Amino acid sequence: MTETDDLKTHLLTAIEAAAGLDALETVRVEALGKQGRVTALLKSLGSLTPEERQVQGPAIHGLREAVTTAIATRKAALESAALEAKLAAERVDMTLPVDVPLAGTIHPVSQVMDELAEIFADLGFAVATGPELETDWHNFTALNIPESHPARAMHDTFYLAGEHTPEDRERPRLLRTHTSPVQIRTMLSQKPPIRIIAPGRTYRSDSDATHTPMFHQVEGLVIDKGITMGHLKWTLETFLKAFFERDDIVLRLRPSYFPFTEPSAEVDVGYTLQKGKRVIGGGGDVENGGWMEVLGSGMVHPKVIAACGLDPEEWQGFAFGCGIDRLAMLKYGMDDLRAFFDGDIRWLKHYGFSALDVPTLSGGVGAA
Ligand code: DAH
Repeated sequence: MTETDDLKTHLLTAIEAAAGLDALETVRVEALGKQGRVTALLKSLGSLTPEERQVQGPAIHGLREAVTTAIATRKAALESAALEAKLAAERVDMTLPVDVPLAGTIHPVSQVMDELAEIFADLGFAVATGPELETDWHNFTALNIPESHPARAMHDTFYLAGEHTPEDRERPRLLRTHTSPVQIRTMLSQKPPIRIIAPGRTYRSDSDATHTPMFHQVEGLVIDKGITMGHLKWTLETFLKAFFERDDIVLRLRPSYFPFTEPSAEVDVGYTLQKGKRVIGGGGDVENGGWMEVLGSGMVHPKVIAACGLDPEEWQGFAFGCGIDRLAMLKYGMDDLRAFFDGDIRWLKHYGFSALDVPTLSGGVGAA
């Protein structure tokens, strides 16, 4: 046996025996490092005679090759064993019962959105969505809010800098200021009859106890033949009764103005005072209660219907829009909107819902 053969046997045995990546690295340095034994042999080739080199050269290069390959093979084996061990240690048994007290909570906004979807699904409404990054045209122009319209200023819009696409029609994009552009997107993409609600995030540059720069709205839209304000009022009444889980909900429709509806109405709901707190239901009278504004609504403006390529002579409808955060506050009794978005774990524990508390009509939508 030559010295090269001995070294090869020694190194290959050591590589095979390396129990971990660190041990393997030690063997690698011993063999192939700057001061390594194989490196020293390679260096020694220079001082040999040409005849010796003819014999030693292939042997030493063969040794280096064999050691390099053995190290790579051992390294791959050790790494895959480590991964296997890690996977085995982190194995989760999905069939174990849920440990509810340790689980997170459902945010009241998510819960209310689920309640809305449940209530309106029962009335034949689908849930529609649209982008939060919206074009000026969808957010304003198509909703009969032309460029010079004062309503644009009222919306405290966040505009985006940057490139415009042809769809933007030369105006900067914006964060949608309301969910009403989903009306436009739905009428452009679906054939009537249409019955949708569109819950989602909306944005305005505004911040105090009842306003946050990001907030939530739900939009409602019905487009069909022969739709009247009577349908609107019945729908809202049915919705609010189911939402507040009370039969004594009283509504008041006040004439108002929105560019995208004609006629327009603001909807107030009656409340009664109980121990100084406003409780939705009954009321409407001044002595022990009053009216609270909850919604904007109206008959969809013919110009909006026409902007979506439909014939307003043939199709009519109603629309409404409502703040979801405010609905949650009224139903579940929070009084500062900003706390909704602070992510404070104590608040979430107090006001959050169990993941198993799925709203159903039969259980009362917000069953605790
Ligand atoms: N988009 C309005 C807002 O954000 C709310 C609204 C009012 C929506 C009347 C409607 C509507 O669909 O008919 O203030």
